[in-house]
Formats: sequence, C-alpha cells, structure tokens
Amino acid sequence: MAVETISKTPEVSVPISSDSIILRISRFNSETDSSPTFAEFKVPVQKWTTVLEAILFVKQNLDHSIAVRYSCRQASCGSCGMQINGKPSLACYTKISELNSSIVTVEPMHNFPIIRDLAVDFKQMFATHKKMKPYIVKEDSELIPGTKEFLQTPEDVEKYLQFSYCIKCGLCNSSCPTMATDTSFIGPQGLAQAYRYVADNRDDGKKERLKIIDQSHGIWRCHFAGSCSHVCPKGVDPAMAIQLLRGYLLGFRK
Ligand code: SF4
Ligand code: FES
Repeated sequence: MAVETISKTPEVSVPISSDSIILRISRFNSETDSSPTFAEFKVPVQKWTTVLEAILFVKQNLDHSIAVRYSCRQASCGSCGMQINGKPSLACYTKISELNSSIVTVEPMHNFPIIRDLAVDFKQMFATHKKMKPYIVKEDSELIPGTKEFLQTPEDVEKYLQFSYCIKCGLCNSSCPTMATDTSFIGPQGLAQAYRYVADNRDDGKKERLKIIDQSHGIWRCHFAGSCSHVCPKGVDPAMAIQLLRGYLLGFRK
C-alpha cells in the first residue's frame, strides 16, 4: 500500500541555521486511522541538533499535533525511543549530523502498539518487568551483626552492574525478531532484568524468577539474534543475560 506524504515547509524565521534536512514523521491515530502516513517537514539543523530537537522544532513551529514522548533529553528516562532511519534509537541521544543523511525518517518503535504518531504503549513491557520481581527478595532479612547494610565486594557488584543501567526504553524489545512473531514473549528487557536480580548475591528470589522465565513464552523462545544488545543505548547486554540464565536452568550455574 502506498504511504501518503504531506509536505510542509517552515514559515518561521530561524536565527542561526546553517543547514536543513527533510524530517519525515510517521502519523497514525489508533482511534481513527487504518494505516500510518508520512508528513514531511523542512527543518533547520546545526551540527549538534538531535532528532528529538528536530521533532520539537516541528511541534513548536509547524504542527503542534504531533505526538512524541520525551522527558529528560539526556538518555536517562527511556521515553523517546523510536525508529530513526530504520534503527531503534533514542531521539534525544541521536544527532542528525551522525546520520549522514539529508532525509531523516522517524517512526514508532516496532513490536509495541501505537497510541498516536511516535508514542507507543508501554503497558505490556512494564507489566512483564514487574513480573520479574525487579527488587531484592530476602528470605532472611537479618543483617550481619554490627552492620547496617548488606555488604558486597566490588566483584559481587560487577556481576550485575551493567544490567542495572537499564532505563526501560524498550529499544531491545523493538529490535527483537522473536517479539515480532510472539507478542506474549517475555522479551530481552524482562529477561535482562530477571538476570540483574538473579546475579545479585543479596537476593533470594532466584528460584522463583527462574520458574517464571522457564515457560512457553519464556526464555527458550529466544533465537539469539543478538539485536537487543546491539541497539541498547546503555550498554546492557540482554543476549548475554539470556545465555547466563539458561546456564542456571540447565544446571551449569548455581
Ligand atoms: S536493556 Fe537497554 S535497550 Fe533494553 S530497555 Fe533496558 S536500556 Fe533499553
Ligand atoms: S528524553 Fe529521556 S531518554 Fe530521551
């Protein structure tokens, strides 16, 4: 099916523009539209302009109705994930100049229901995250006498540290070919978070978590494509977490 394109050119004066791009934004309203269309806008950019700033320029000056989710603008909140020229990326962390293209296409993340335009529904991902018990489960909460904390060595922390950097942006899930075909699959985000706590020596919830992920839409659905680790903006390696969790389930790890 041909995708309709609507072109708009800025009528505002832009003070310090040295260059411009065509920004193609996917438009879709889940309540009224049967398929997405693209709207095109000419946007002034500087070397440091991010994709999020280009979208906000359009919102502020050309079409305020565009739906986009963002908050921190510094790759911390996980709100602004989207497809940028076909790659799952954070809009606030992607500079236009790094894309080497005068045409930049932004679309909503794959494998999530679209609410409107670039905003997708995170409900299922957050529910799955919650199912993984993303907190320390402690059967015996007694502290070591004379201490006020559960002490860990730097080596203990190193085992789970990278997995604790997850900002729940969903880019890993959007890149996952298994999620594209099995909407009930736990997904790389949930599995990486299960591992984050399983690997924490303060935690007593390993048995429960392993039971949760060892089910029909669970860990064994992963084909190890590895795209989740490739797109993660925070250096989390969900593909490795999945392999390490399988090690526990197969009895290679204790
Ligand atoms: S693992 Fe990485 S890509 Fe996946 S949700 Fe967390 S931060 Fe985002
Ligand atoms: S706006 Fe927070 S991660 Fe991009």
